[in-house]
Amino acid sequence: MSQKSHTHAQWSSRVAFLLAAVGSSVGLGNIWKFPYMTGESGGGAFVLVYLICIALIGLPILMSEWMLGRLGQKNPMSTMQQISGRLKRSPAWALVGLAGILGAYLILSFYSVIGGWALAYVKYAVTNTFGGLDNDSVGGLFGGLLESPTALLGWHSVFMIMTVGVVIGGVAGGLERAAKTLMPALGILLLVMVLYAATTPGFAEGASYLLMPDLSKLTGETVLAALGHAFFTLSLGMGIMMAYGSYLSDDVNIGRTAVTVAIMDTVIALMAGLAIFPIVFSNGLDAGAGPGLIFQTLPLAFGQMSGGWFFGILFFVLLVFAAWTSSISLLEPIVEWLEEKSPLSRTGATIAAGLATWALGIATVLSFNLWSGVHPLGVFAMFEGKTIFDLLDYLTSKIMLPLTGLATIIFVGWYMQRDELRTQLNMSSGAFSVWYAISRFITPIGVAAVFIFGLLH
Ligand code: PHE
Repeated sequence: MSQKSHTHAQWSSRVAFLLAAVGSSVGLGNIWKFPYMTGESGGGAFVLVYLICIALIGLPILMSEWMLGRLGQKNPMSTMQQISGRLKRSPAWALVGLAGILGAYLILSFYSVIGGWALAYVKYAVTNTFGGLDNDSVGGLFGGLLESPTALLGWHSVFMIMTVGVVIGGVAGGLERAAKTLMPALGILLLVMVLYAATTPGFAEGASYLLMPDLSKLTGETVLAALGHAFFTLSLGMGIMMAYGSYLSDDVNIGRTAVTVAIMDTVIALMAGLAIFPIVFSNGLDAGAGPGLIFQTLPLAFGQMSGGWFFGILFFVLLVFAAWTSSISLLEPIVEWLEEKSPLSRTGATIAAGLATWALGIATVLSFNLWSGVHPLGVFAMFEGKTIFDLLDYLTSKIMLPLTGLATIIFVGWYMQRDELRTQLNMSSGAFSVWYAISRFITPIGVAAVFIFGLLH
């Protein structure tokens, strides 16, 4: 490695880096959130906008975060502080790092609850609960889980303990090795599910629902939802990718790696959609069912297909694993920040961060039962009917992530020197010019426009 003074070690290899980045980005966002958001937003038009957001907004910001991290070599807040200091820019840029940590905290609080749903479904799968389910009983199974604060709290606690355990145990290396087999296994299993979906009568309808855009369905709100999801699914706007970039060695080609990660992430999401919507249409279910969508559709398929018991277990185990690698990446920045700002040891900081996140998660647990009628900001028309979980999701994906992403890209595009960027990205001059123009103009204007229209809708 070259001249820079390093504050910490680097990824053992390019593959290890790629696995960690894919581990963070592929998670519940792809398999749980993407399908239900697509269903709530009317299908293909949402998917089209989402793909455009990944390419023109997510990708340049992913590259920017990695680049800043590699230059700064510290945690996101100190990285922003250091680079803005060197460029004689306002120290306020460090707030971008701080906002990211807050975002990670809020997201992890509900992410863990949904990770808990996936754990509960591992149990249902093992105990063969899916055999013989019909539309009503599959809804009843999910409804029964949501109705029980104690069950949700229990699963949320297990998921949080799993996450804290890995961060304390520092067994990330072991997880990395596991990811090498389990991530491809998830891809293959989704392919099996898509092939199964292809044998169902609703396949053509499901596939065209997902892939044929009906532009009349687009509203400011769905476009903002697509933008927010592009950030969420690529783990952007939280300093996570920036922190990962600080471990990146100079010889890794950022552009090529970012394209690889974005494509893998997108393919997993699209496969999840292609597996789910045919089942929705074959069984006359509601595509707009909301956050329960995959839990109310896939078990029907497992109950009907041959080998369904085995595939059901495998699917939910792999879903838990994908969620786990993402939740670890969400906990890390909070722990690092706490460790730096408090006298706590790493273990102490991890337990404290885990407890604080777990406690906030209780609000999400209750949003699905005892507090389902509590709508804290309901007096404002735009938040009407939104539970605490809905608000946490809205605040993070639709407000915080786009804003920190916007600040990041403005910083890189307008405040950093072209030559430095050019050296960092190490692209041909043609490709660099395209990237630079997109990052300076299209990405920031795109985020700002979607944001404003989305909020005003
Ligand atoms: N990208 C992860 C997913 O799609 C979620 C996540 C968001 C992870 C933000 C880290 C940071 O599931």
